[in-house]
Amino acid sequence: MINKFIASVLPYLPKKFVWIFSRRYISGKKIDDAVAASHKLAKEGIRVTIDHLGEYISEISQADEVRKVYLEMIDRFEKEGIQATYSLKPSSFGLQIDFETGYNYVREIVEKARSYGSFVRIDMEDSSCVDDELKLYQKLHDLFPKNVGIVIQAYLKRTPEDLEFLAELHSPEKPVNVRLCKGIYVEPENIAVKDRKEINSHFLEALDFLFQKGIYVGIATHDRELTDGAQELVKRYSLTGKNYEFQMLYGVTPELRKELLAAGHQMRVYVPFGEQWFGYSTRRLKENPRMAFYIIKALFYR
Ligand code: FDA
Repeated sequence: MINKFIASVLPYLPKKFVWIFSRRYISGKKIDDAVAASHKLAKEGIRVTIDHLGEYISEISQADEVRKVYLEMIDRFEKEGIQATYSLKPSSFGLQIDFETGYNYVREIVEKARSYGSFVRIDMEDSSCVDDELKLYQKLHDLFPKNVGIVIQAYLKRTPEDLEFLAELHSPEKPVNVRLCKGIYVEPENIAVKDRKEINSHFLEALDFLFQKGIYVGIATHDRELTDGAQELVKRYSLTGKNYEFQMLYGVTPELRKELLAAGHQMRVYVPFGEQWFGYSTRRLKENPRMAFYIIKALFYR
């Protein structure tokens, strides 16, 4: 009840309040900020994937700006000697407005990353985007199999079929690379599972399936039940860093991150930056209503 209330008022809070509490989830507004955060993480032995904040453009012409930022950022990270990969949201390249144009933009970003031996992860957005985003991945994977990856959301009811589809694409010459997460968008009950326990068991079933198929997995979670379950599977199949890594979001559960590193697992942190921090932040704050509660308290009890 209280969570629902907090979720509903968040988008209407003054931006400056949200910014104060969002700061921990975002490296900053500029590429420089993402570079500085990545250097710090590298000192702790953590790799990064860099995301330029933004999604769901309304005009295809806006995609060109996003393209420029990605190209500049990839050059910059290479110059800095940071071993980064890059994450992008296809809706920020207009995939839902004009598939071919969006595809060509994303292809250019992947080619740029490939020129440095790097990698681009296609983030998965809400359920209306899944077909197009899988199609985008299939086309790019066919051309640049080692430089592009996709995300699978454990909460989606369609996920077992999508996993079969990815397993069909996978081969030693053209390996598939998946980030597995719970899924963050608000979806109707006929599309996504709502119960946390059920989502967690789907997550571990999906992970088991991917490991059995020999597919590399970025295990993206801060949920200890899932990191424990994942570690058991890693042991059961005698897997190494060639088969998986853990992934977490910037600013979330740094203690669990340290524990996993100390246990010898590889860790990659998703480092977002950009002017369009509001949508990303409100999603993070909705996940952590305690944080949102402090914002509301600050508003009413000044
Ligand atoms: P859960 O939400 O249960 O959180 C477990 C624990 O982590 C909480 O109890 C709390 O302690 C802590 N925690 C979680 N969120 C917190 C917060 N905001 N602040 C403080 N503590 C917090 N989703 C998607 O739909 N498409 C995508 O492409 C991606 N990409 C992606 C990349 C990476 C690297 C990660 C880690 C996650 C994503 N996600 C995503 C988001 C994902 O689907 C999911 O919503 C979040 O990771 C939260 O789920 P958890 O598995 O962490 O569990």
